[in-house]
Amino acid sequence: MLGNLFVAGLCLGAAVARPTTPPSRTGLTPSELDARVAKGADVLGTYSECDSSISPACTWNSLLPDETLLIDMNVPGTHDTATWNYTQAKQLELIQYTGPLAPAVVYRTQDTSILDSLNLGFRAFDLRYAYLPDNQTIGFYHAAALMSATTTLEDVFYGFYKWLDANPTETLFISMQVATGINDARFQQLTYEYLNDPVALKYFIQANATLGTLGESRGMMNLFARFDWPDLPAEFDNRYGLHFSPNDWEVNGANFSFIYNEHVPSSVYIEDFYHIEVGGPLNLPPKVQYKYNATSYHLDLAASGNNSDSLMLTFASAESNLYGSTPRDMALGNPLGGEGVNQKLLPYLQTHRGQRNGVVFFDWYQQVDGLISTFLDL
Ligand SMILES: *[C@@H]1O[C@H](CO)[C@@H](O)[C@H](O)[C@H]1NC(C)=O
Ligand SMILES: *[C@@H]1O[C@H](CO)[C@@H](O)[C@H](O)[C@H]1NC(C)=O
Ligand SMILES: *[C@@H]1O[C@H](CO)[C@@H](O)[C@H](O)[C@H]1NC(C)=O
Ligand SMILES: *[C@@H]1O[C@H](CO)[C@@H](O)[C@H](O)[C@H]1NC(C)=O
Ligand SMILES: *[C@@H]1O[C@H](CO)[C@@H](O)[C@H](O)[C@H]1NC(C)=O
Ligand SMILES: *[C@@H]1O[C@H](CO)[C@@H](O)[C@H](O)[C@H]1NC(C)=O
Repeated sequence: MLGNLFVAGLCLGAAVARPTTPPSRTGLTPSELDARVAKGADVLGTYSECDSSISPACTWNSLLPDETLLIDMNVPGTHDTATWNYTQAKQLELIQYTGPLAPAVVYRTQDTSILDSLNLGFRAFDLRYAYLPDNQTIGFYHAAALMSATTTLEDVFYGFYKWLDANPTETLFISMQVATGINDARFQQLTYEYLNDPVALKYFIQANATLGTLGESRGMMNLFARFDWPDLPAEFDNRYGLHFSPNDWEVNGANFSFIYNEHVPSSVYIEDFYHIEVGGPLNLPPKVQYKYNATSYHLDLAASGNNSDSLMLTFASAESNLYGSTPRDMALGNPLGGEGVNQKLLPYLQTHRGQRNGVVFFDWYQQVDGLISTFLDL
């Protein structure tokens, strides 16, 4: 890169070589790309440049060598990523499409937008998608709760593309799971078309059931496909990424694993104990204790070296909605119930700085100071 600038400088003689932004791999002009990203604002939030001299988290991948294995990285993620602006007002705005639902707090697991989370160091995103009310395009839900009537999965991909163009040292992990509703042949084909669009193919790593090195992955996205294609004709065969079939994924499992590539073989170990039904209504401490126990146990497992060839996925997120504790209560506690999982995780991470944690999905991460910088050991 420096070499090229030098040569360009020589060719231009006395002219000062100005840094030029390389054209976007999307093929769009900067203003077209901005318009595309703005269309996704309901789910993406608003784009802002990140200055890594002020905030090292915005390009923390740049601090790691190219040969780093992706499975060895500590990757912070947001669970149910799209819910960050799902307020009661938003639910009311969209009630014409969803009908009446449980209170918005039951569905809301974040308060920070995708674009802000990227700048704060988050590299894994848990996308839950289904047909939008038009039944023609795909958008975002948490269970039956619709996040936006207009923002599509593709709009959000363009937010990631723009951010990666600006931060080409970084790699992302995109998890996709069908949220609700109809999953027919047309839906599966549409998902396939989004993922095989010529632009998507430039950003999604075209590897099948393997995770490589950071060097191979910079500026790119790794797909975790948490869905099946039961009705998609065989000729649609570019089904890349890591396939995590819902049949293999233990619902509410605190400690399970499965093989995602028989040939190598490669396994994934998962803690996804999210629905906590202990301790009785409104009694938060035992629920938080159970969840913290499962989470810290799984982080210990990631660090133990027993599964050093495997991908480790841990969800620090949980709810006990039926017993009166929301995702926010579980993550952050409340005045009656004391601490949440995130406050308990902070001292754990402080005393285990630098250990291997794998990919960890958080809820409501902003309120516990130092949680993510400690996780990233920055
Ligand atoms: C959240 O949604 C409301 C509409 O319900 C909107 O007015 C507001 O701008 C959104 N917040 C952000 C940060 O985009
Ligand atoms: C979309 O599909 C649902 C379920 O079949 C149906 O109730 C709804 O009317 C459809 N909406 C449109 C706009 O076609
Ligand atoms: C969790 O899973 C690991 C790996 O499969 C296993 O060795 C361990 O015994 C399990 N722990 C519990 C408490 O189930
Ligand atoms: C991808 O790898 C999986 C697991 O090894 C295998 O079952 C599948 O056929 C492969 N798919 C393609 C498109 O190569
Ligand atoms: C703590 O976690 C371990 C491993 O998942 C489990 O065997 C044990 O029963 C848990 N204890 C409590 C109180 O949750
Ligand atoms: C790792 O494996 C060793 C030996 O099998 C076992 O004693 C230890 O408990 C394991 N650690 C974890 C965290 O599972």
